[in-house]
Amino acid sequence: MKLAHTALIAALLVPAVAFAAGPNIYKARHDNFEAMGRAMKGTADQFKSGNPDIAVIRANAAVLAAAAPKVAGMFPKGTGVEGNPKSEALPAIWQKPADFAAANKRLVDATKAFQAATATGDMTAVQGAFGAVGGSCKNCHESFRKPRA
Ligand code: HEC
Repeated sequence: MKLAHTALIAALLVPAVAFAAGPNIYKARHDNFEAMGRAMKGTADQFKSGNPDIAVIRANAAVLAAAAPKVAGMFPKGTGVEGNPKSEALPAIWQKPADFAAANKRLVDATKAFQAATATGDMTAVQGAFGAVGGSCKNCHESFRKPRA
């Protein structure tokens, strides 16, 4: 019984540890950010077209709203440059966890508001809410991502 219990706990712990420590966290993070980047560009392209398609914007808003809540959990300790020299994650993520959490909340709130605005179809509101999402990306990158040349 005791052995079975230990085995059960081990089985439960192993995937979590592998996720936190393995190189896959970098790929998962990269893929999630890339998906958000594509959704942002796809939306911006609609506004630039002069004849935005609300269905396309709604689909992008759904991608953003689904991806945003995943970001906070994708930065376990030890997954900065120490685990992958190519990572642009700054140590501030782990030094200022409350600030990082606030930046994540801003993203989640902004993507929710954006998705809600697309449901109304009011294009002025949609564009304003889209701008706020972009602001939330920039806000976090300024403090927590290595500056890009
Ligand atoms: C709470 C902080 C935070 C928010 C909010 C955030 N990012 Fe990032 N982003 C990062 C960090 C940190 C990295 C660097 C990750 C790494 O290199 O390990 C990054 C990297 C990226 C990358 C490069 C991915 C790669 O691996 O090459 C893209 C693209 C990106 N973010 C897009 C976005 C977009 C679009 C948004 C808003 C919709 C956004 N991010 C919001 C923190 C954030």
